[in-house]
Amino acid sequence: MSEIEALGARALGDIGAARSPEALEALRVALLGKSGEVTAQLKSLGALPPEARREAGAQINRVRDEIAAALAARREALDALALEARLAGERIDVTQPGRDPGRGGLHPVGRTMERIAEIFGRLGYTLADGPEIEDDWHNFEALNFPPHHPARAMHDTFYMADDGRADEGRADDGRAVPRLLRTHTSGVQVRYMAEHAPPLRMIALGKVYRSDSDQTHTPMFHQCEGLLVDEHASFADLKGTLAAFVRAFFERDFEMRFRPSYFPFTEPSAEVDIAWQQPDGSTRWLEVLGCGMVHPNVLRNVGIDPERHTGFAFGMGVERLAMLRYGVDDLRAFFDNDVRFLRQFV
Ligand code: PHE
Repeated sequence: MSEIEALGARALGDIGAARSPEALEALRVALLGKSGEVTAQLKSLGALPPEARREAGAQINRVRDEIAAALAARREALDALALEARLAGERIDVTQPGRDPGRGGLHPVGRTMERIAEIFGRLGYTLADGPEIEDDWHNFEALNFPPHHPARAMHDTFYMADDGRADEGRADDGRAVPRLLRTHTSGVQVRYMAEHAPPLRMIALGKVYRSDSDQTHTPMFHQCEGLLVDEHASFADLKGTLAAFVRAFFERDFEMRFRPSYFPFTEPSAEVDIAWQQPDGSTRWLEVLGCGMVHPNVLRNVGIDPERHTGFAFGMGVERLAMLRYGVDDLRAFFDNDVRFLRQFV
């Protein structure tokens, strides 16, 4: 057997035994590539005398064609095998039961906000909204917080840059004022009264931010703000409204206590406690909200005549209400995103 015939026979054996497209390609390069074995044979033809060259050239060409055909055939066979393997691997068993992706549910805080909105909706309150990045005017000034009043200290919060550029809010007189993460939802009162004439009733629900963190405080929490302005709104109306809310929210009656308090934007102001039954049978006063009659300065700041209109406002912590309703004792559990905790509310 000539050298080229031997090479051909070995090559065909190797090709038949190749197990992957990569192995096949390596063989092709080693045989027919620029510095492959068959190519080397063709190159060596030039050294032969002319008569021998014809004969040898024909032989090499034949072997080269055989190899090329074998490569093509083996490639087709490998492709077919790969396709078969894929089809077998990807076959769908339509008789298998489906996988249950699990159904999502509302977060207990979101669920509580929906419940609050629904109850006040029945009492004729419109749902209003305001930005979480608020400005000093709406969060403080218009609410009768003087610039350096210590009441601001209870609202330590996160300020945006106040370097006089785009990052500033505007007071209603056009003055540039710093922007901050709102510390309460009371700014929505200002926004709403600036756009709506009395009589009006609104609630606002959403996130607020304070520099605060322990078992009963998180730097972000949710509040519900309520506001009513009319010609004869009184503190008695405020008390009746809150009692109706508490009864609807907890589905039972509570003894409630109004404790005198201070907010710059209400006068008089009060904090409301409810008598909470403890597991051991005793009762404890638990603070649930702040409220009061809208301060005349606030009404004036939004162009409402305090001689003609009066109003009341209240603000409550949504998490606090959710904790009481669901019997949760650590506020932080609401924000840990532990599905074992969250699933209990679905
Ligand atoms: N904004 C007050 C707070 O965050 C609560 C409040 C709202 C008090 C409305 C009175 C009236 O503490």
